Amino acid sequence: MIHFNEICKTYHSERRRTVLAVRGLSLQVMRGEIYGCIGPNGAGKSTSIKLLLDLIRPDSGSITINGLPVSNEASRASVGYLPENPYLYDFLTAREYLAYVGRLSAMSPASIRSRSDELLAKLKLDQATGRRISGYSKGMQQRTAIAASLIHDPDLVVLDEPMSGLDPLGRNLIFNLIAELKQQGKTVFISSHVLTDIERLCDRVGIIVQGRLCHEGNVPELGMPLDELFLQVVNNIGVDEVK
Ligand SMILES: Nc1ncnc2c1ncn2[C@@H]1O[C@H](COP(=O)(O)OP(=O)(O)O)[C@@H](O)[C@H]1O
Ligand SMILES: [Mg+2]
Repeated sequence: MIHFNEICKTYHSERRRTVLAVRGLSLQVMRGEIYGCIGPNGAGKSTSIKLLLDLIRPDSGSITINGLPVSNEASRASVGYLPENPYLYDFLTAREYLAYVGRLSAMSPASIRSRSDELLAKLKLDQATGRRISGYSKGMQQRTAIAASLIHDPDLVVLDEPMSGLDPLGRNLIFNLIAELKQQGKTVFISSHVLTDIERLCDRVGIIVQGRLCHEGNVPELGMPLDELFLQVVNNIGVDEVK
């Protein structure tokens, strides 16, 4: 369903500093698979995800979703995305925001209504639907952003650190939601630092270090707990010799 083919991405920041954020990344995710993308801060996970959503463009290489190049917006017809730092129009209530996002996906008012009811209840936001998002806690805002990424019932869900800012209860809600997506046969691409969740949810994981896929495997066949493997892979590469 997702195909990254030899992707490179360099950022040019102030004072002509260049950052090689992604260096020859090739990776595939099959339909119905839950794929976990892990790696230290600055490894290039969010950059790869933004490239997948065509929010930024690679220097070289190609990415397809369902065989369509991501430069073709039809590739995103059924994709849900939770950004690393979601921006919500916080003068709206959660229900208004979901209605806005649903309309962007051309949903009917009736399906927006029923889908919002369902997601707001699942994410335990139903008490807060009449209040503006600006008054929500960080965790409630994160849960609203997750609801927005799922409102149109997408086939592919891309979640950039979905557990960020959540308390253990919130984490558990999201965990169950992702497990449900898996049961429904959806494809999920998720980046996270919560390795216990990745280990329990994902079919396959890829460890990205310095913009490269350094290790990939089926979760049941990793041969050791994921946190141990993560440290081993990252320490072998030597993260501090960066750039
Ligand atoms: N807009 C940007 N301009 C310049 N450098 C960036 C930008 N975004 C990310 N980077 C750099 O690219 C590298 C990869 O970042 P990122 O993809 O956010 O990593 P991760 O999500 O794995 O923590 C880091 O070195 C980061 O500082
Ligand atoms: Mg990131």
